[in-house]
Amino acid sequence: MPAVISSTREIPATGIIPRHVAIIMDGNGRWAKNRFLPRVAGHKRAMETVRGVVKACGERGIDYLTLFAFSSENWRRPKEEISVLMQLFIVALEQEVVKLHENGIRFKVVGDLSKFEPKIVEFIRNGEKLTAANTRLTLTIAANYGGRWDIMQATRSMLAQHPELAGSFEEEDLMSHFAMSYAPEPDLFIRTGGEQRISNFLLWQLAYTELYFTDTLWPDFDAQALDLAIQSYQQRERRFGRTSEQLKTSPSAEGTRRVVADQSA
Ligand code: IPE
Ligand code: IPE
Ligand code: MG
Repeated sequence: MPAVISSTREIPATGIIPRHVAIIMDGNGRWAKNRFLPRVAGHKRAMETVRGVVKACGERGIDYLTLFAFSSENWRRPKEEISVLMQLFIVALEQEVVKLHENGIRFKVVGDLSKFEPKIVEFIRNGEKLTAANTRLTLTIAANYGGRWDIMQATRSMLAQHPELAGSFEEEDLMSHFAMSYAPEPDLFIRTGGEQRISNFLLWQLAYTELYFTDTLWPDFDAQALDLAIQSYQQRERRFGRTSEQLKTSPSAEGTRRVVADQSA
């Protein structure tokens, strides 16, 4: 049995607070442009937003926060911008990982790390080791991540370990090979910056995630903006394929809606 259940195989338990929030942090460039600043000024400012959102998620009892920092297609950007993003990533790793550890946060990075400088990979692995036993919040940074890459690498990895599965395999066989096999599927997906697309983020895992799009640019996204997203989530009826009437007899779903109703009373 896999530790993490699949929403298409079983109906997951849901609660008033999303257990896993996954965010596409978009709009840094436009934030800077609005201020007549170079795009990279937006990326620098974005780090402060990350700090605030990590803290707010911890305070709200969210167990997993996953942030899309660099997609497998972001290599298509100008060389200078990529270089600044990598520098910022190194500085963040140097400065922030110890603080995350002090706050009981487990730090993970998912994505194809083979394209990163060895120095960055070493920082990442050391950070992951340092924080491995922390239980307060798991912060995952998706760097050079792509949903299609993940499905491809998981399939390759599964078949390398179990060549006998080539003819026939189940979801469960594949799932443990995904980069985020340690986390439940996201309950809430947030994209800042106004675009309404997935941009090759967690394709498999978003199957039954509640989607929330906001025009707020990532550098302006704060605890209050996060609360608006959570409030929107709390109004959703997570049916997982069932009818509304069926939910009335399902204890976990009813539990969620009862608490929402109590809050608004
Ligand atoms: C998101 O902000 C950060 C990364 C993709 C690295 P953008 O840089 O995409 O900002 P916009 O979308 O151009 O405003
Ligand atoms: C998605 O943002 C990737 C990250 C936030 C890391 P993009 O700005 O790259 O997405 P598109 O190109 O607008 O779809
Ligand atoms: Mg963008």
